[in-house]
Amino acid sequence: LFLSGSRLYAQQTSIIDKQALSEILEKNRSYIKQGTIADYIPELAKMESTAIAFAVADSKGNIISTGDTTKKFTMQSISKIIALMVAVQEIGESSVFKNMGYFGSDRPFNHFANLETTGKPLNPMMNAGAIMTTSFIKGEGEDAFIKILEMIRYITKNKTIDYNKAVYNSEKETGNKNRGMFYLMKNNGLINGDENKLDNYFKQCSIELTVEDLAKIGFFFANQCVRFDGDSIYRNVELSKLIQSQMLIAGMYEFSGEYARTVGLPSKSGVGGGIVACVPGRIGVGVFSPPLDTHGNSLAGYHMLLDFVKKYNLSVF
Ligand code: DON
Repeated sequence: LFLSGSRLYAQQTSIIDKQALSEILEKNRSYIKQGTIADYIPELAKMESTAIAFAVADSKGNIISTGDTTKKFTMQSISKIIALMVAVQEIGESSVFKNMGYFGSDRPFNHFANLETTGKPLNPMMNAGAIMTTSFIKGEGEDAFIKILEMIRYITKNKTIDYNKAVYNSEKETGNKNRGMFYLMKNNGLINGDENKLDNYFKQCSIELTVEDLAKIGFFFANQCVRFDGDSIYRNVELSKLIQSQMLIAGMYEFSGEYARTVGLPSKSGVGGGIVACVPGRIGVGVFSPPLDTHGNSLAGYHMLLDFVKKYNLSVF
């Protein structure tokens, strides 16, 4: 009782406003120099390394943001949570997970050796499981991608969101490891269909948005799939539990355990430099800064989240 009381006290005394977010951003700006921009997708290497932004969708759905808030970046792996949502809505959780685990991992996002041993992807957050999950979304050609895009446009209430064709082409040209996983899973009978199914994954990773859009996505999954403006046509408690639990155990890849210890929020990173985080039942957070740590997670983004969670006592633990 005393503990929950002090938590409440912290909530009441610290107000999340632009000033507070700006202070956290400035304190962590120097981490930009310590990270490395992803260049294994050549087009990503062109990103502006000094861009940095921070946004929160508070418990009432108000958007508070600071830094380069209009700067667009590709969501990359963050798209995996939306693809998981669309696939589960269409064919049900048990079908999506029939040949996939709910495991965490000590391996990087593009690890796939277990496809040779157990034959099954570890989880839908790493590339193998994500590629399979997107392949389950029904339709021909780019239909699956369009469904993912429309869901993101709905959640963010931002009809202008689209994908970056240069990043998509770059990823398609150089994504031979992903292509290898795709054919290994096809060989194992886990994926049906042609390479259009893989193209949908490349396209979803190339969807461009802003840090405010990320905060709205975080709010949506934190709040039972209710949108930041209160629209509840997709309200689904079980789906939000599934997505947040996967974010918590695998959203930051092999760093997920240490991240749970230090930040303590369900979160998903992308190699474009974005991280989305959920404060369950309350708040959505988006951070953006392209230089990454060795796991593929935004370095300054991680440190901004660390400070934010400490200041407002937001860890789920
Ligand atoms: O498939 C890939 O490698 C990229 N499109 C996405 C990887 C990614 O974002 C990993 N996250 N930190």
